[in-house]
Amino acid sequence: MATNWETTDLLKSTMEISWQFDYEIGIEKLRRLYSKSKSAQWDAELDLDWSIPIDPSRPLIDENRFGLERLPFMKRLSPGTLESFRVHMTAYQLSQFLHGEQGALMTSAALTHAVPDYEGKLYAATQTMDEARHVEAYEMYVRKLAIVYPIGKWLKELIDVTLQSDHWVKIAIGMNMVVEGLALASFHNMRRATTCDLLRSLTDNVLRDESRHVAFGNIYVADAISQMEPDQREDVAQFAFDAVLLMAGKSPGQGERGGLIRGDPGFLKVLENAQIDPGDLFRGIQEARAEGVEVSPPSDAVHAFKDLMMPALFRVGAVTERTRALYAEADIPVYEDCRVLESLEDAETGSIGL
Ligand SMILES: [Fe+2]
Ligand SMILES: [Fe+2]
Repeated sequence: MATNWETTDLLKSTMEISWQFDYEIGIEKLRRLYSKSKSAQWDAELDLDWSIPIDPSRPLIDENRFGLERLPFMKRLSPGTLESFRVHMTAYQLSQFLHGEQGALMTSAALTHAVPDYEGKLYAATQTMDEARHVEAYEMYVRKLAIVYPIGKWLKELIDVTLQSDHWVKIAIGMNMVVEGLALASFHNMRRATTCDLLRSLTDNVLRDESRHVAFGNIYVADAISQMEPDQREDVAQFAFDAVLLMAGKSPGQGERGGLIRGDPGFLKVLENAQIDPGDLFRGIQEARAEGVEVSPPSDAVHAFKDLMMPALFRVGAVTERTRALYAEADIPVYEDCRVLESLEDAETGSIGL
């Protein structure tokens, strides 16, 4: 794929890698999840209808689904500029799905190395294969759009920190709960918003796999955290807090940095391609806030923090009394209601609530 940005990056990791010569199954739920993963494999090349035509110059998303377009500033733009913004914003978002899936491919491979249990390794290997198929599927789709944007600065930072962490529980928190919480919400919302049949069926297939990935985090991590010494649990809880802070668009000690997209070179490129002045847009956001205009997603949208990420961290015990105070200081509510999360995840035998 032709790009005008750096396409290689090298990292070093100090992760402990674990052999396991006891081939007994200790966690039956994980064995069932592994079994289900084996039989649920699909093939992006064969199982999706790639003959469906896509016009890359037309938006693929229902125009009522763009939160930013509810800004008074955006309403003053010409229809042509708005259409161009939708086209590039969707390409930007799908590029994030593609790069995020590559991150998930690498983190699940790292989990296969690092988890201490036999059945955990088997399961993580199936997630690795799932993520490889997801990378392939989004790569094929993004290629049809003929434009790929670089990975978001903050998403890359979080995946890098996760890949370079020193314990498998941190990988599962950073990836299966924080990044996949964000991804699961975005996939659901994209599935509802898209006007493209190919993208809808691709997303359906991906979502079925992702429901197992979220269930894995719950089944395995809760058990591991409950057996940790208090110091180790605090270390893991701190990692979770730092990851959430990064995704919430805040930097430690620096307060707000304005969300995931503000200041992101890829998003600035979207604005440039759509011929929208970034200064005008960010002033427009501030004006809207001052006037109390809500730029919230549609009411049926899944909210990554409220519905998925925070309930998942709370449920596995990755929020301690100490870090609860840190969340309060950072003005990030610790949502504990797991109903949406449970409806979206595969509870090892249940089905996804699509
Ligand atoms: Fe995935
Ligand atoms: Fe995944």
